[in-house]
Amino acid sequence: MGRRRPPSRDTGPEIALTIGAIGARGDGIADTADGRVFVPLTVPGDRVRARLGPPTGEGRRGEVLEWLERGGGRGEPACRHFGRCGGCALQHVAATDYLAWKREQVSGALARAGFGRDWSPEVKTTPPGGRRRASFNIIRRGGVVLAGFSERLSHRLVDVLDCPVLAPELVALLPALRRHLAAVLPDGGSAEAVVTRLEGGVDLLLIGPPRLDLPARLALADLAGAADLGRLSWQPDARTPPEPVAARRPLGIRFGGVAVAPPPGGFLQASAEGEAALVGAVLGGLRVAPGAVADLFAGCGTFSLPLAQTGWRVHAVEGNGPALAALARVAPGVPGLSTELRDLARQPLETSELARFSAVVLDPPRAGAVAQAAALASSSVPLVVMVSCNPATFARDARLLAGGGYRLEAALAVDQFLWSGHVELVAAFRRG
Ligand SMILES: C[S@@+](CC[C@H](N)C(=O)[O-])C[C@H]1O[C@@H](n2cnc3c(N)ncnc32)[C@H](O)[C@@H]1O
Repeated sequence: MGRRRPPSRDTGPEIALTIGAIGARGDGIADTADGRVFVPLTVPGDRVRARLGPPTGEGRRGEVLEWLERGGGRGEPACRHFGRCGGCALQHVAATDYLAWKREQVSGALARAGFGRDWSPEVKTTPPGGRRRASFNIIRRGGVVLAGFSERLSHRLVDVLDCPVLAPELVALLPALRRHLAAVLPDGGSAEAVVTRLEGGVDLLLIGPPRLDLPARLALADLAGAADLGRLSWQPDARTPPEPVAARRPLGIRFGGVAVAPPPGGFLQASAEGEAALVGAVLGGLRVAPGAVADLFAGCGTFSLPLAQTGWRVHAVEGNGPALAALARVAPGVPGLSTELRDLARQPLETSELARFSAVVLDPPRAGAVAQAAALASSSVPLVVMVSCNPATFARDARLLAGGGYRLEAALAVDQFLWSGHVELVAAFRRG
């Protein structure tokens, strides 16, 4: 109590605040006569003296200067970087309150979508150390390479030494990245390393620097050997296709027993446990005699292949060429599986195209699937299962389904973005 922090350089007004709740991004919220204040790292019941930041559309940010009273429901952070690192927002919250918060993000979204306040979905948890995919930021300043994650609300980098969220194989790459990228990045240069643990080893896609000379290519080949990577690819920027630098072992992942080779940096669910929970909920939501199903935003087959294995005739639609190509390569060996490359934001499956499906699964990116949800709302598809990593866009899109006559049958929250403000959810809807 009364422990003071060093004074901040900012000079906003100081105010005593009582935290009433934790908001959608994991910050404590204090409601004041002048509007909301978002105070990171606080829990309900905390009383703090805080310095206010400038007003924004949603409210102001508050920076704790002094703790006046501690609320209950506080937990011991699992990581030495917590508080500074932008990767986690909720390690300071006690385990039961943390799970209740994740559940509330989903039940709140279901209520906003128009399905009432009574939904209190189960939260499937995933273990620490289970995250198999991450994107490290890397910068070189004055000959020193830093590798890790951005600080909260800042472009500064936390040079991550360990991380209880990530698979140990991914954390173990950080020292090799620092060592070898010193010869790859110019001083002041930066890059992003998308790392994915697959069967056969780690896939590393380096985005940046814009050019690689011969010594830089050799340094990357050394990195691949020293870190025992399965594959290392490089792309100068996110719009240019990756080029292979080192392909040391075949890499793959099994969906429904079928081995798929994802493209460099290709999307996968964040953890194997999260994927299993999502696939279980999708299959559970479609517990009817298998017919034709459209798997929209299919990636490289996370849901398509288990659906095909359980007897569904699957039409997989995806907008990313390399991801769909990975699925299309195995399609000839999977009875009933067809694939289509299509931008579902600009060209959603229309009502007439949807008529042949007895079910639709959709798993859009964070932006959601407003156009596709609108088309589904006026379709005759009896069953829709929606997977979402963003409760806000889910609520908007599910509201369209509700307006089109769909009832919510089941909902599940999946906590595969451990200690972050993100939560994944699956909702099964039936028409009529
Ligand atoms: C959340 S991921 C889900 C992928 C897959 N269902 C899975 O579980 O692995 C969203 C997918 O939507 C794709 N996507 C994003 N925007 C799209 C668009 N406009 N049209 C079609 N697919 C899109 C991405 O490439 C990505 O594969």
